[in-house]
Amino acid sequence: MNITWKSPSNIALIKYWGKHGEQLPNNPSLSITLSEATTTTSISLKKKRSKKPIELDFTFEGKKNPVFADKILRYLSGIQADFSFLSENRIILTSENSFPHSAGIASSASSMSALALCLMSLRATTDKKMYNYDSFLQQASNFARLGSGSAARSIYPEFSIWGKTKSLPGSSDKYAIPFPINYHNNFNDIEDSILIVNENEKPVSSRAGHALMNDHPMAKQRYINANKRLDKLLDALKTGDWGIFCQIVETEALELHALMMTSTHSFILMKPNTLEIIERIRNYRAETKIPVCFTLDAGPNVHVLYPHSEKAKVRNFIQSELLSFCVKKKVIYDHMGKGPAQVIED
Ligand code: PMV
Repeated sequence: MNITWKSPSNIALIKYWGKHGEQLPNNPSLSITLSEATTTTSISLKKKRSKKPIELDFTFEGKKNPVFADKILRYLSGIQADFSFLSENRIILTSENSFPHSAGIASSASSMSALALCLMSLRATTDKKMYNYDSFLQQASNFARLGSGSAARSIYPEFSIWGKTKSLPGSSDKYAIPFPINYHNNFNDIEDSILIVNENEKPVSSRAGHALMNDHPMAKQRYINANKRLDKLLDALKTGDWGIFCQIVETEALELHALMMTSTHSFILMKPNTLEIIERIRNYRAETKIPVCFTLDAGPNVHVLYPHSEKAKVRNFIQSELLSFCVKKKVIYDHMGKGPAQVIED
């Protein structure tokens, strides 16, 4: 049997930065699930050929990839107690991204969520246990989290929240939850154009980045800020207020980078072109009153967020004013998505 899932990346509006225990977040985060930036992963089982605790045959985009294979093997070893088939069979995994690996787009959210969904599907078929779909997704989110924290959020469509907050009963540090409130039409199908400023791999791994928060002098205040901003953003999403949305989202992005810049081991991940783009977005917003704003991951690339209704105008602005600051004029036009889907082959 071959099981395939296609799962999207996501972009955090309220950032997860800092963790404890077994990949548990120090603050709740909220993200938009994307649509076009996806990973498709297939899993099948074959007869084992060796006595290795886990025998993995992994191919990424048609080629062996020992670096990714090692990461996956470590991940599978950590969760094998929950999936008996992992040690009983040879695991054949293939994976590919819809976006170029060198685009500087974090792929851990899409890849780890696709893998966790494949594992859960396989378990559902071998277990003979009945899973309702909500509990299936919740467990997939939990296992995705163990691979990469942000991957927990990719399981759900549109907006997703990971991390316990008093404001949302049912929220958890162990898994993400689907957006529990009706958000305003103004936020339907938010556009996210990802401007590629630099394609190189990140100079700081996610794991090292989160660890910088352990003795960061601003850590305590950071977690207070994130919780407060989450509440404000939830209100803005309910009332349809793009003004507040832009203000919170940009502050979150800049605070993430401020934390990296001011940690004991300091990183400046923004490039001069990142700042050029930011300035132009702010000027364009002030001049046109069109609610367009930016957010950043732990890297120099800029996510430009804007309402679907302003797509034509903002695309024009991106093409005429921002493309020259992108490497090889690269931009990925993405938007809010419907979440992962199982791919059924006929
Ligand atoms: O999931 P990780 O461990 O790669 O961490 C992701 C951290 C950020 O992308 C910077 C923020 C976030 O919430 O996605």
